Amino acid sequence: MKIDNDLTRMLGIEYPIIQGAYAWEGYGTSKIAVPVSEAGGLGIITAIAFKTAEDFREDIKKAMSLTDKPLAVNYSVLYGTEFTHEYYSEYVKAAIEEGIKIVFTSSYDGTPIGKEVKKEGCTWIHKCATLKHAVSIAGKGVDALAIVGVEGAGNKTNEQTTTLINITNARKMITDIPLIAVGGIADAYGFAAALAMGASGVYMGTAFMATKEFQGPDDLLNPIINQSMTDPAYTTRALTTDPGVFHSQAAGVIDSVPDVKEFIESLVKGAKNRFEEIKGWGLTD
Ligand SMILES: Cc1cc2nc3c(=O)[nH]c(=O)nc-3n(C[C@H](O)[C@H](O)[C@H](O)COP(=O)(O)O)c2cc1C
Repeated sequence: MKIDNDLTRMLGIEYPIIQGAYAWEGYGTSKIAVPVSEAGGLGIITAIAFKTAEDFREDIKKAMSLTDKPLAVNYSVLYGTEFTHEYYSEYVKAAIEEGIKIVFTSSYDGTPIGKEVKKEGCTWIHKCATLKHAVSIAGKGVDALAIVGVEGAGNKTNEQTTTLINITNARKMITDIPLIAVGGIADAYGFAAALAMGASGVYMGTAFMATKEFQGPDDLLNPIINQSMTDPAYTTRALTTDPGVFHSQAAGVIDSVPDVKEFIESLVKGAKNRFEEIKGWGLTD
């Protein structure tokens, strides 16, 4: 089985399913990226999860020795912090030297890194949180765009809208590159919905934390799989940044911990079934 679309062709992957960047040491590493790529999605190794560029290089080498499938890296450019594009220069060099061909930038302006890696023959994808930034960066040579809805984990801004509004609008405003839906997606219905809205693929953080290979501690996993839908900490989660909670509202649809391959297959098969079900409704011209 395979999904053949503009994003899977661009990235050389089987399914347009991408694992999110994770800032923490020990998490945004080959440990989760390799199984995701091996299962036909795209795994990401997150530069900010490594204290030094050499540690980052070693993990990329390890990942490359474990899979022949495409792997990506992420550089999170954080406004007002030390994590500028200059900070990442040695990390960028290391990934290019180790043969990485797909580069994500995220948060603030990824253009300096994007331009540099494109000169080296890489595909550059930027992940941003607002439609305004998506439109602005679309004209700067980016190959695909990931847009994070307010349902997603990570930094929040009051200019953010929902995944539904992001993708349906971005599809009208940005017509020449693939769009990737991010935020609140964690099962086959969410995957199918993203494709139906006009996204070419999905990118998930919380959902991959609830897989066997992620191997997070129980205090991270338990709140994800036992999420109460009436807990105020959950119902207000989209609008607030609570430093004590790391997962997103995607937790609302997660109740088990499959392995990565099982999870990715469940997304693809479930979405296919859903589209067939809809086709069976007898829609006519
Ligand atoms: C623990 C954790 C750490 C994260 N660290 C980063 C990061 O360093 N850089 C980044 O761009 N996004 C980061 N994210 C955001 C994810 O990559 C992704 O955009 C987000 O989880 C999508 O929303 P979802 O959780 O609803 O799928 C992080 C998310 C989580 C849950």
